[in-house]
Amino acid sequence: MTVERIVSVIDSFPLPVMLIGPDERVRAANAGVDSILGVDLVGKHYITALRQPAIINAIAETRASGTPQEIRFTGRAGPRDTVFRVAVAAADGDILLTFMDQTAAEEVGQMRRDFVANVSHELRTPLTALLGFIETLGGAARNDAAARDRFLGIMAHEANRMTRLVDDLLSLSRVEEDERVRPREQVDLAALLASVIKGLEPQAKDAGVDVVLEVESALDLVPGDAGQLVQVFTNLVENGIKYGASGGTVTVTLAARQMHQRLRGEAVRISVSDKGDGIAEHHIARLTERFYRVDSHRSREVGGTGLGLAIVKHIINRHRGRLLIESEVGVGTKVSVFLPCQ
Ligand SMILES: Nc1ncnc2c1ncn2[C@@H]1O[C@H](COP(=O)(O)OP(=O)(O)OP(=O)(O)O)[C@@H](O)[C@H]1O
Ligand SMILES: [Mg+2]
Repeated sequence: MTVERIVSVIDSFPLPVMLIGPDERVRAANAGVDSILGVDLVGKHYITALRQPAIINAIAETRASGTPQEIRFTGRAGPRDTVFRVAVAAADGDILLTFMDQTAAEEVGQMRRDFVANVSHELRTPLTALLGFIETLGGAARNDAAARDRFLGIMAHEANRMTRLVDDLLSLSRVEEDERVRPREQVDLAALLASVIKGLEPQAKDAGVDVVLEVESALDLVPGDAGQLVQVFTNLVENGIKYGASGGTVTVTLAARQMHQRLRGEAVRISVSDKGDGIAEHHIARLTERFYRVDSHRSREVGGTGLGLAIVKHIINRHRGRLLIESEVGVGTKVSVFLPCQ
């Protein structure tokens, strides 16, 4: 095969590919390789072109033995660091390098490790507390009725927190599972919001918060999954009660349908506003990350796992809607959900 022909074959290959000739110089490299290693490699010695010892050694070994190898290679594809698995193979006196992008797989691995670390940490704290109290109740506090009642109260609180965490985790994985299936049932949002607020009445009362529902247009039905939407608004109103209690009022507004530019159609807006402490701007973009809490100590005290808004976000994605969090420190927070009407 002529060099021109090799180049044209390599150019149409979907992965970055490089061919090194018997003279140890680069014989051909396609555009994918250009974006990893730079342009004008043809004719250069492969050591100059590649520069990383692992790959240089692998090439030398394959040249000597003919055995194919696979090694890890870090480079840049565009603006970001990229990890490649490079297959080094002998091909009729030449050496063929094929670069396979592993970045996405490595990121998934990292996310999984972070997730497991977070879950373990969240479970360890209440478990440590429980074990401590069990020991105290079995020993020092065995005959102290007052201490026993107090400790049992705290133990129930910690056990409830673990139950919530496990429920939230299960709910998150269920939501992720059916994220691609668009809900079709028609939901009466005014009635749904009223029932969510009713369910949270005891919690609101304990916190000294009034929850007010303002409905601008009661007749709207939107396609949705009623159970999941209850979860969304329960978390948003509960957050208003838990973190915005100092404002005394949480207002839930169901606005009439309106054109929504980004959703390319009509959407209804449901907003949950409080006049509490608000959230500093740099936290806002991260609130929907799993386990992200502005003040983790305070959130834990009120029983939060930091998974609520992550679940909300997934459910809204499934509904092809949008979530908007606006907040100002000292003024309050307004979380709006836009749901498409068709
Ligand atoms: N209305 C609000 N005002 C101030 N901070 C808020 C408000 N809503 C949410 N936050 C902050 O965002 C964090 C994440 O909220 P999210 O609902 O995801 O978790 P959580 O309420 O802590 O736990 P969970 O919802 O699982 O019980 C909260 O811990 C809190 O710090
Ligand atoms: Mg919450």
